[in-house]
Amino acid sequence: MRTAGVGPDVAVVRPAARLRGEPRLPGDKSISHRALMLALLAPGESRIDGAGDGADVRSTAGIVEALGGSVERSAGSNGTVDYRVASPGADGLHQPTEALDCGNSGTSLRLFAGLLAGLPMTATLDGDESLRRRPVARIIEPLRSMGAVLRARQDDSLPPVTVTGRRPLHAVDLAPAVPSAQVKSAILLAALRAEGVTTVREAVATRDHTERMLRARGVAVRSESGAGGSVVVSMEGGGRVQPIDERVPADVSAAAFWLVAAAIHPDAELTLRNVGVNPTRRAVIDLLRAMGADIDERPLDTHGDGATEAGVGEPRADLVIRSSQLRGIDVGPAEVAAAIDEIPVLCLAAAVADGPTTIRGAGELRHKESDRIAGIVAGLSALGAAVDVDGDDITVHGNSRLAGSLTDSRDDHRLAMTFGIAGLVATGETRVGRPASASISYPGFFAELERVRA
Ligand code: S3P
Repeated sequence: MRTAGVGPDVAVVRPAARLRGEPRLPGDKSISHRALMLALLAPGESRIDGAGDGADVRSTAGIVEALGGSVERSAGSNGTVDYRVASPGADGLHQPTEALDCGNSGTSLRLFAGLLAGLPMTATLDGDESLRRRPVARIIEPLRSMGAVLRARQDDSLPPVTVTGRRPLHAVDLAPAVPSAQVKSAILLAALRAEGVTTVREAVATRDHTERMLRARGVAVRSESGAGGSVVVSMEGGGRVQPIDERVPADVSAAAFWLVAAAIHPDAELTLRNVGVNPTRRAVIDLLRAMGADIDERPLDTHGDGATEAGVGEPRADLVIRSSQLRGIDVGPAEVAAAIDEIPVLCLAAAVADGPTTIRGAGELRHKESDRIAGIVAGLSALGAAVDVDGDDITVHGNSRLAGSLTDSRDDHRLAMTFGIAGLVATGETRVGRPASASISYPGFFAELERVRA
């Protein structure tokens, strides 16, 4: 009942008799990107320990260098990376000589667009085939309204994006149409270089790492929660970003794969160490608990990151998860936004849960590294699950017995890992097409899949 092989184009995963141990987790991808970008804006030396070493974070590190930061990497613990970044600060950066390569990373592209909007230079942000299909009007419009000049392909809708920064930018008061931490963060990074107070009104709160990390670096950012999960974020321009030392927690979005693996496997107990449990990122834990998952959460202190109550620093916890009897639940649009990257693997949990799960308002999944709604339907259906889509709503019927089959990641890391986890419980052999995409966020994922077999 063991052995998997990862060939260049297909990984073969066989069912596991038991799951035990402590999977090694990458450093949080969202926090790693932001730590590198803020280190570039901060004059002096910043340290980032435990960063993710996926291709996306490497893309950001490459762009930091291209803009004038000096980046040193060394091996961190458990497959993570420790970075030292020395920077002249926002006023000493230089115009890059070539297009900035974001690879597969939407976060790099959208956040750097905001950062560049206030710098006196012209730079082009580009990436791979998948990135070139991802919408950018959502950042172009707000950054233009702040005074920057931006151009993109196909009527300013698709990358590459060329940004000509302006100084100073105008402060704005905006309510983005799409719930997106990338859009909010792009506006906040530009707002550092704007005159006056910029306000972003989110109908549904998205991940708040940018706000917390700016506060930790001496920039005053206010967040006020309102009715129905809304939040108003405001920040005065002109704040100086100070260099600090940051310790990145393990990525809860990577932990999600093991949470689902253990919950759906009949003989499992897995321990996940030092996982970021920021209230705006932890929805996957709470949704799985609502489905009946047996998850023990042991909070850790914040390792000197500051008081989490004040919205500074990142709360973290060890998580222990055991085999569970799951039942279907109803997931609404606010929860979809809060668990946006975890919806594919939650659909896998829903496929074997007792009764149907409905996921409403999931349209944003079509604009990720692939059309994730299409990818989930194709992959889970191939494995024997019943999934229906009606507009932006997904129904996973539940009570399926999964049978190994050929699935395709579509070069999307989260789909590759979802189908890899399915292989641990499906009968026979599950083949995952294009598995190497897992290394976008989780290098070594398929090796961990072997290590947890007890
Ligand atoms: C991210 C925000 C999310 C998420 C992405 C990372 C971030 O995108 O899907 O993987 O680091 O800000 P949106 O905010 O555009 O939904």
